Amino acid sequence: MSELSDQPGDALIKPPVGWRERLSAWRNRMVADPKFQRWAASFPLTRPIARRRARQLFDLCAGFVYSQILDAFIRLKLADILFEGPATTSELAGRLSLSPDRTLTLLRATSALGLTVSLNPLNGEDRFALGELGAALIGNPGVAAMVEHHAMLYADLRDPVALLRGETRDTALGGYWPYAARGALDHLSAEQVSAYSGLMSASQPLIADDVLDAYRVDRHRVLMDVGGGEGRFLAAAARRDADLKLMLFDLPPVAERARTHFEHLGLADRAETHGGDFQVDSLPKGADLISLVRVIHDHDDDIVLRLLTAVHAALPREGTLIVAEPMSGVRGAEPIGDAYFGFYLMAMGRGRPRTATEITELLKQAGFRKAQETATIRPMLTGLIVANA
Ligand SMILES: C[S@@+](CC[C@H](N)C(=O)[O-])C[C@H]1O[C@@H](n2cnc3c(N)ncnc32)[C@H](O)[C@@H]1O
Repeated sequence: MSELSDQPGDALIKPPVGWRERLSAWRNRMVADPKFQRWAASFPLTRPIARRRARQLFDLCAGFVYSQILDAFIRLKLADILFEGPATTSELAGRLSLSPDRTLTLLRATSALGLTVSLNPLNGEDRFALGELGAALIGNPGVAAMVEHHAMLYADLRDPVALLRGETRDTALGGYWPYAARGALDHLSAEQVSAYSGLMSASQPLIADDVLDAYRVDRHRVLMDVGGGEGRFLAAAARRDADLKLMLFDLPPVAERARTHFEHLGLADRAETHGGDFQVDSLPKGADLISLVRVIHDHDDDIVLRLLTAVHAALPREGTLIVAEPMSGVRGAEPIGDAYFGFYLMAMGRGRPRTATEITELLKQAGFRKAQETATIRPMLTGLIVANA
């Protein structure tokens, strides 16, 4: 055995290839040198870049703390309180049941993050208003619900290396999303689906309009939403086209929630709900448009291929499939698709965010003739691929 092969890492180390790799290796050596760092921070031309990089690095280190400040902001309903109008620290301390000191700590922290704004003091007392980011949460109850369920994600990420090595068993998110467990799903109860289904329903309005703005459904007769949850996407589509007939397929207890939701919305005459497991059941026919919204990233390739094949079989010759979900490799949205969803789905125990090219490849294997990526206004929330059967 050679000396090098005794060191597992060494065998992988290869010199940079080509000028780009050599340039970035040289840059990395410079940036890693504390003397260079000090020089760059003091030299006027490099100072702004050095500060920006230092800030980015600090944000990476502190991200968890920022998230927990947001969690406190949401759980204490500070946005709702400040939406009524600005308030002083002692007024807020009373409303939040916190000591004035802790209230000030919270308010300074939320101001630093743009959730609140510090105003001029009144009678020597600090005063705060709702900030722009805090105000955006008022109109998006789905974001608050997402943030609250992150307690499970953070518990699962406590040891990220153990998670990466597959050593973390029985994750909290795996329990929250019971369909992520391999095997039969016919035992799932109404109670087991209610938490995730409610969360999806609350966050769906964020997605639905972006998808429906990017793809017009009024050129179709019947839309079937597979993995359609409680029917929020279909209800939004129904508002776009009064003649569109609706079909929903989901696990039986979720389909039942959708049926109740359609009745509540007065859509029962236009909507059929079908309960089943797309891992084993075929899909009902009759739709000329099928949607998979935030569905395939939850599953491994073998199940996705089975599902896409079932969708292809359910569509007529000229039928269309739209796949909408956050994707990997989207320029400008990499922290969401690749970092957030990459680790979220790993903690959930199944699936992965895929690039548009990877999804297109699976669509082709499932028999789709053509698949095209279509722009959405907020690709960090959802990308879109339109495929023809
Ligand atoms: C992440 S949720 C998305 C729900 C909805 N499309 C949305 O965007 O709000 C995934 C959905 O797929 C459904 N699902 C997961 N596995 C399934 C299966 N094997 N058969 C049928 N539905 C399934 C879940 O019940 C859930 O409603």
